[in-house]
Amino acid sequence: MKSNHCLSIAGLLALATGALACTWIPGYAVNAPVLHMVFGTMGADTPDDEVFGSRIVAAEGFGVGLFAGGLPGVRFLRPLEGGALLATTPREGIVWRLEADRDGDGRSDGRTPLLEGLDRPHGVDVHEGWLYVAEGDAVGRVEIDVGTGELDGEYTRIVDGLPEGGNHWTRTVRIGPDGWMYVSVGSSCNVCFEEDERRAAMLRFRTDGSEPEILATGLRNSVGFDWQPGTGDLYATDNGRDLLGDDFPPCELNRVERGGFYGWPVANGARVLDPDLGEGHEERARNSIPPAHPFRAHTAPLGMVFLRHENLPDEWRGVAIVALHGSWNRSRKDGYEVVSLHWNADGTIEERDFVTGFERDEDVIGRPVDVAEGVDGTIYISDDYAGSIYRVERGPQWDEASVAGTRARPEPARKSTGSTEHGAALWEEHDCARCHDAARATPGVVPIPLEELGARYDETRLAAFLAAPTPPMPLYPLDAAARRDLAAFLLDRFD
Ligand code: HEC
Repeated sequence: MKSNHCLSIAGLLALATGALACTWIPGYAVNAPVLHMVFGTMGADTPDDEVFGSRIVAAEGFGVGLFAGGLPGVRFLRPLEGGALLATTPREGIVWRLEADRDGDGRSDGRTPLLEGLDRPHGVDVHEGWLYVAEGDAVGRVEIDVGTGELDGEYTRIVDGLPEGGNHWTRTVRIGPDGWMYVSVGSSCNVCFEEDERRAAMLRFRTDGSEPEILATGLRNSVGFDWQPGTGDLYATDNGRDLLGDDFPPCELNRVERGGFYGWPVANGARVLDPDLGEGHEERARNSIPPAHPFRAHTAPLGMVFLRHENLPDEWRGVAIVALHGSWNRSRKDGYEVVSLHWNADGTIEERDFVTGFERDEDVIGRPVDVAEGVDGTIYISDDYAGSIYRVERGPQWDEASVAGTRARPEPARKSTGSTEHGAALWEEHDCARCHDAARATPGVVPIPLEELGARYDETRLAAFLAAPTPPMPLYPLDAAARRDLAAFLLDRFD
């Protein structure tokens, strides 16, 4: 914490009693859940069910509820094909596996620490059977079964010696559609000329850590990024600098190009010369790439994801969901919500509220960090303030269901893409009937009739179930296509 007039002991006591805005430089205020920032403690309790649908609300057509609580400081998320969700708690050094909700109460069915003792694990991604983890100064990986979420072999570091310390310690790793591994490294300071050119940059490596490259620079702190479906363009969030007042500079969404320079520290927003460090660097500022979309100043966009799920209506597929962590240095709080970005036909981007209510009248109950889309289309939101993960799904009935504490699944989509014929062959080949058909059950086995599957599953959900079935149902060695075919057959036969 910087030393300043505000955070004296007396100041801390004052802060402990509630929200406090405190100005020590003109145009500069600390106004955040400061206890949380100073002590790194869990900021708030997991919200009660009552807040969902009343205080925390989702955009029309969606409902929001709690998926998991009791995860202090939870940061980044990565869903697995089998339905489980990976989540990091950097402070504890843990990568968690949160089991899918199979009992239908809307909550994760349990959690397992997959990796422990890591150095501030933050970003996580899964690619071709490997789990990648971005630590404070490194990236490591370990083999993972994306169906069951079980690890195999040793976790080994493939990149070491990334610059660390300073203001922005979180590292994010994602594997791009081009098969390269992308790692973002934030700046060491609010505004300065970095000594290490890998800071305030997007780096790129082969997935074994070789061939390091500085892909793009001038990105002060790009914590979240994803590739736009269709174009394959890489978009990244970026947090604007502090100490220039409540409303400047904007935070940014950037379209990241190889070799691109995005302005920091000599320019802010759309090539506006930085008042502290811009002088003498006018040309460089002029050549910086302006944001694709400006977010309001200090709202702190972090994780982002493009929605891809096939069951989404057209107007939602390809929309980017972005978590705004919320301001800490603005006299009135702003951010503390999840927004959606809609690309208009003319290329402009429209920002709308997606999940709101984490802050109301300066009262904060949550701070969104990352967003991710599960195989069944569930959108997950992590909150490092309340130590919670929320789920957002299609269906307005959801809000009421959350309040009642029961789960009403959204209307399942009946669209089938798998081959029922191949599915029927798999049913025979694996003799599923020995447990599921009274007429053909193995003597001594109490058959479990399969019925009305369509009421509870769509094809994606059922395929996800087959990737990680509830014990004692055996796990079969089926690839994604075979699971889909079998699911299509089951929905056809046992609707
Ligand atoms: C050894 C017995 C056994 C075999 C063989 C078996 N299952 Fe199951 N299956 C179970 C059990 C037990 C459950 C219930 C698990 C639970 O409590 O949710 C189950 C549940 C299911 C469900 C979920 C039902 C629901 O109502 O949610 C589906 C679908 C299913 N099995 C499909 C299959 C298919 C397809 C095969 C063959 C590839 C198969 N099972 C083979 C024991 C078996």
